[in-house]
Amino acid sequence: MTVAVKPDRAALEHAFAFAQRQVRALIAEHPNLYPMYTQGGKWRHDGELWTNWCEGFLPGMMWIFHRRTGDPWWREQAERYTRPLEERQHDRNVHDLNFVLGSSFGRWYELTGEEHLRQVLINGGRTMALRFREPGRYLRSFVADESCFIDIMMNVGILYFAARESGDAELRRKVDAHCVTTRRYLVRGDGSTAHEGVFDLDTGEFVRQSTHQGYRGDSCWVRGLAWSLYGFGTAYSYTGDERFLHTAECNARCLLERLPEDGVTPYDFDAPDGQRPPDTSGSAIAVGGLQQLADLTPSPERAAEYRAAAYHLLNALCRPPYLASETPGWEGILREQVYHLRLGLGVGESCMFGDHFFVEALAKALDALDASPEPSSGASG
Ligand code: GLY
Repeated sequence: MTVAVKPDRAALEHAFAFAQRQVRALIAEHPNLYPMYTQGGKWRHDGELWTNWCEGFLPGMMWIFHRRTGDPWWREQAERYTRPLEERQHDRNVHDLNFVLGSSFGRWYELTGEEHLRQVLINGGRTMALRFREPGRYLRSFVADESCFIDIMMNVGILYFAARESGDAELRRKVDAHCVTTRRYLVRGDGSTAHEGVFDLDTGEFVRQSTHQGYRGDSCWVRGLAWSLYGFGTAYSYTGDERFLHTAECNARCLLERLPEDGVTPYDFDAPDGQRPPDTSGSAIAVGGLQQLADLTPSPERAAEYRAAAYHLLNALCRPPYLASETPGWEGILREQVYHLRLGLGVGESCMFGDHFFVEALAKALDALDASPEPSSGASG
């Protein structure tokens, strides 16, 4: 696949400014609301949530806005929306504590290095480790003891952080084991991923691949693939374990081989025509994974290829119909995301996770342009 390589700086800046306007409006119109997905483009509704995993993404965007603009108002808002999440360090109901705490407290800690914030993150990692099942050697998902989700890979960062900061070798053993189990049973030989692995509760024997949010157990739900790509890159950045880098590169290869021409990912690569809506959240998360991988891979050729692909995906998201900038009354940032197709939740809507990773990717791309106004170009895959 040949990919466009030039970042469109004006489009990135336009999208970043638009994102700030949308979040400002959300704060003004629905103060203290932590929405997950829109209905008809509106954040406030009483639709089902399925699980509580998105609360860190709104303050996460505020921390990013503050870091890039230096505007103290954004910091004030970011603190205001981060503080109420502190109790989540003890939340045993979700497998998403890096999403909740890493996006919010993690960015606050990066800015200030305050001890109290570090402790919240360490406690969050310890709470996550309570999900570890020795038979099977994985962190269980929120749905059942026998279930391991690919999404959990995007949450291993908080366990690695906690293990490193506390020097807890047992914590490190558990998170390493989870990554090894996931790459063995949820990542396939072609780099695609299953959403869920099901294990025998007594013996820990792997039983089958399954899905909740994808098309089928043997299909490739694209947001899951993006979580894996980004998550295994993160695992490598903490450990230097070449197996994790290899897995992230296999995920990237699968993504780039199957990416449609327009650079917008479908919700599942294997869903049949007519049942395969676009899911821009998958694209946005994949951009973050590719940006990270470009910095991690030892191969300059592959780094150029990943960067070029990241710009290709990002440029596509920066324009209507995906950017909501020309949809009057739409309250989200990125349209055409899919949260849970089977349950009919957030389909063709904006979702906090896609908006958050889109904003993160925009900020990283703009940072890179500031550092090197003429980025290298010229990769094809
Ligand atoms: N359950 C996490 C996701 O929707 O990606």
